[in-house]
Amino acid sequence: MKLAVFGASGRMGQAVTRLAHAAPDIQLVGAICAADDPALGRDAGEVAGVGAIGVELSADIAAGLLGADVVIDFSVANAVAPLFAASEKAGVAIVSGTTNLDERGQRALEQAAAKVPVVWAPNMSRGVQVLAEVVQHAMRRLGAEFDVEIVEVHHRKKLDAPSGTAIRLADAAREVRTELAELRGRDGQVGARTDEEMAVFGVRGGDVIGDHTVHLLGPSERLELTHRATDRDLFARGAISAARYVLGRAPGRYTIADVLGG
Ligand SMILES: NC(=O)c1ccc[n+]([C@@H]2O[C@H](COP(=O)([O-])OP(=O)(O)OC[C@H]3O[C@@H](n4cnc5c(N)ncnc54)[C@H](OP(=O)(O)O)[C@@H]3O)[C@@H](O)[C@H]2O)c1
Repeated sequence: MKLAVFGASGRMGQAVTRLAHAAPDIQLVGAICAADDPALGRDAGEVAGVGAIGVELSADIAAGLLGADVVIDFSVANAVAPLFAASEKAGVAIVSGTTNLDERGQRALEQAAAKVPVVWAPNMSRGVQVLAEVVQHAMRRLGAEFDVEIVEVHHRKKLDAPSGTAIRLADAAREVRTELAELRGRDGQVGARTDEEMAVFGVRGGDVIGDHTVHLLGPSERLELTHRATDRDLFARGAISAARYVLGRAPGRYTIADVLGG
């Protein structure tokens, strides 16, 4: 598999580069970064800490995609639309883990999916997929008497809030109880909680890779269902599995549940 990485100088981009370099079935052919990135022109392997691999970080998307079968994207929401358009044009499959895509990014992703296979997932881990399934099971068993609230914790450099994973978990909860309305935190004289609200809280600090807890709060008892990521490689491995999965598939949207199977 010939792979390009978008957002290659970032925390996740470096993890993908490192793991791709170690995989015998993957050849890294492109590494794309922002035009004002201080790492521009440097060897992507050196930036990722695995030594020179002969692939320079470039801000030219079309050149970075040249010869690639799949691009893995971990970047920022407002940077993805041109990548998705260029991937569609070049026939390059897309695996994107960038969270909180804006409307332009979402439209570009939909458009690309008509021409190439696409996996977009706000969390590439098996554990979070299972957490979403467990939350839905618990909510069905516990019923509407239990209030649902979500708390996520991330490192101090995370740019978006709440996390894409927290939104994904809220969506999973809403599939079970469609009346739930998602609140982004609470502040001031908000009054007593209603049955229909489900608040999402973002905590930021330190170097936390990503913790998510779904609180199910009922009369005299409560459940706290938690997922903790302890290494970024978890998400990079998931993205590489997704890249192997989309390779050669028909155009369309695929989910991380498709990738993980069963
Ligand atoms: N789906 C998952 O499993 C998962 C897991 C972890 C993180 N994420 C998401 O992945 C994204 C990246 O996370 P991260 O922790 O790796 O963040 P990060 O370290 O800030 O990396 C983002 C990278 O994108 C680069 N970038 C910005 N504009 C660009 C452009 N126009 N073209 C190419 N690259 C550009 C940034 O460069 P500059 O620094 O020069 O701006 C930076 O190197 C976030 O949305 C995060 O929420 C998803």
